[in-house]
Amino acid sequence: MKRRLILLASIVLAAACSQKAPDIEKQIDAILSQLTLEEKIAMTHAQSKFSSPGVPRLGIPEIWCTDGPHGIRPEVLWDKWSQAGWTNDSCTAYPALTCLAATWNPEMSRLYGESIGEEALYRRKTILLGPGVNIYRHPFGGRNFEYMGEDPYLSGRMVVPYVQGVQSKDVAVCVKHFALNNDEIHRHTVNVNVDDRTLYEIYLPAFKAAVTEGGAWSVMGSYNLYNNEHLCHNKKILVDILKGEWGFDGVVVSDWGGCHDTGQAVRNGLDLEYGTWTDGLTMGATNAYDNYFLAKPYLDGIKSGKYGTDELDDKVRRLLRLQFRTNLAEGRGHGRFVCPEHSAAARRIAGEGIVLLKNEGGVLPVKDAKKILVVGENAVKMLTVGGGSSSLKVKYELSPLAGLKARFPDAEVVFERGYSSGAAVVQDGVSAKFDLAESRTPEQMVADAVAAAQDADYVIVFGGLNKNKLQDCEGKDRVEYGLPYGQDALVEALAATGRKLVFVNISGNAVAMPWAGSVPAIVQGWYLGSEAGNALADVLSGDVNPSGKLPFTFPYEMKDGPVFTEEQYPGIQREGEDIFDEYYSEGVFVGYRWYDAKGVKPMFAFGHGLSYTSFEYGDASVSGRKLSVSVKNTGDVVGAEVVQLYIGDSECSVPRPVRELKGFRKVFLQPGESAKVTFDIPDEALSFFDADAHKWVLEPGEFTACVGSASDDIRSSVKFTVK
Ligand code: BGC
Repeated sequence: MKRRLILLASIVLAAACSQKAPDIEKQIDAILSQLTLEEKIAMTHAQSKFSSPGVPRLGIPEIWCTDGPHGIRPEVLWDKWSQAGWTNDSCTAYPALTCLAATWNPEMSRLYGESIGEEALYRRKTILLGPGVNIYRHPFGGRNFEYMGEDPYLSGRMVVPYVQGVQSKDVAVCVKHFALNNDEIHRHTVNVNVDDRTLYEIYLPAFKAAVTEGGAWSVMGSYNLYNNEHLCHNKKILVDILKGEWGFDGVVVSDWGGCHDTGQAVRNGLDLEYGTWTDGLTMGATNAYDNYFLAKPYLDGIKSGKYGTDELDDKVRRLLRLQFRTNLAEGRGHGRFVCPEHSAAARRIAGEGIVLLKNEGGVLPVKDAKKILVVGENAVKMLTVGGGSSSLKVKYELSPLAGLKARFPDAEVVFERGYSSGAAVVQDGVSAKFDLAESRTPEQMVADAVAAAQDADYVIVFGGLNKNKLQDCEGKDRVEYGLPYGQDALVEALAATGRKLVFVNISGNAVAMPWAGSVPAIVQGWYLGSEAGNALADVLSGDVNPSGKLPFTFPYEMKDGPVFTEEQYPGIQREGEDIFDEYYSEGVFVGYRWYDAKGVKPMFAFGHGLSYTSFEYGDASVSGRKLSVSVKNTGDVVGAEVVQLYIGDSECSVPRPVRELKGFRKVFLQPGESAKVTFDIPDEALSFFDADAHKWVLEPGEFTACVGSASDDIRSSVKFTVK
């Protein structure tokens, strides 16, 4: 017996030392043949809130997962969501993914992926539960802040380097939430009805890029239903598309509590079940994990002949492959945690993602300020806390107020709260490092802010949403497009003082700004993580010239947008059932595709973002399938412009958007410097998905290539013909 154990252990060890794919596959075969049925079953489901078993007698490690996309989640208790109270798990918080997308710079994605990958590795995690690339469909979406915006091309280009960066550290990503999880309100019971063309053109491309180009090692099924099947065990999405069409050889992980049926889980592509306890199944039983759908019910089903073992072997093979890619990877390193390099990365990404939405009269950057009045709860509230599963326990979070005080040591920087959200001091088990108790009335807070503004050179308001429930938070959508907590009245009162007013909107969603016309400077400040204060001070002071561009549209009003009927959102409840049917009847006309088609002017368009310098575009020209255009920095400070390429199909057998993003490049230019930017125009950039033929089709004819600084700021267009 002893000899046999040693032999098996050495199989694993030998495999660990060899990373060549065919070798790994052979080692997997060898291990698979040694595993008992019970050991295989054990590997397919959780043993605790965030871990699943290995095979101890063979030295196959456990799998440990961690949220999330923006930082490494603190340890929780074995069986509970509550924090475990460890003192070594306070992480670096990176900007939320909307901010990363707003950099429009794939290099920032790579930096992000590598940095967060190192933090996950240091914490000895196997799988990082992110990134999220669900398309921003509607400004109420509670988790839009965790995703990469409304455009499949932008999300696709930005997700690939993130995936590769994380996985270069021998930590797997888990791309989520696959698929069609575009709102939170009925996330466990909503059945999405979407046509195939829209599915393939809008909702799948970012996932596909993460898998086929990024090489993602795991994917998380989402909570909702599609084709009346939950997406954690959905035949069409997981078996036919993900594992079939895209050749995915990694692991499908259920979202926590997203598995509902053993037979479907066995056959429809789920490999690893997590969190089932969380939806109440045998809640409180000591053997809860044995009752998971892929635990005893699966074992019993195999023993009784209800299920065969081919599916199980496939699942275990995938899990072992994941092990060789991560825990057992040759030379797996140790990672780094909360180091100066990670802080610098977080600050750089944040600085590149902040978007200057408006800057009338060049109010920004702040100069010659003797007194700066900082107003708004978001100047002091910990915004790394809250929001749901991406909530973090951070080593530090520099607030905007602290950042401005540090950047302007010679100015008097004073704070007035202006409004209160009634935020709890302790949220998600983390204590905010600021006493948020407030006894003044809303009117008094506004009056105090106005009084303090009278002799201020600048008034900078940090408002927006705040990751509280209903304000950019998992599990719940927003319920109003307007800003909460009486912020409109505050901003209007401050605008009336005539001081140089700047509104910094902290959110991962578009919000209404009815006062936008009377506020000279507006900045989109996202959720920026540990370095929030520094990054905002960098941009407001002009140390960093803003170069972020919006990854989604800000309409003036909700009714301007593509989703406005109950059928579209939140869906119609079926009689006598829990299920809501949601109809994506806007089709491919999501985000700017809708506003352009309807000729509706948004408040701030997709791709919009200003700079402290200016850029001049030359005439675009197309030769063959290459487009070139020159861009010049015509101002007097160094800056970066995101040159955007949109393509429109003038005549087509199906209705197509006026134009769609098909390329972008961020160029850094010195004052007076020019650059020539070239884009390839591959067939994919011109094709649409023909649902009947189930393939991408390029219809010959005339196309228009538009180059610009935003989707509504096209600087040069050129027509070209495809024969
Ligand atoms: C969320 C996932 C998350 C998981 C684990 C779920 O509720 O939807 O995004 O990764 O919990 O925390």
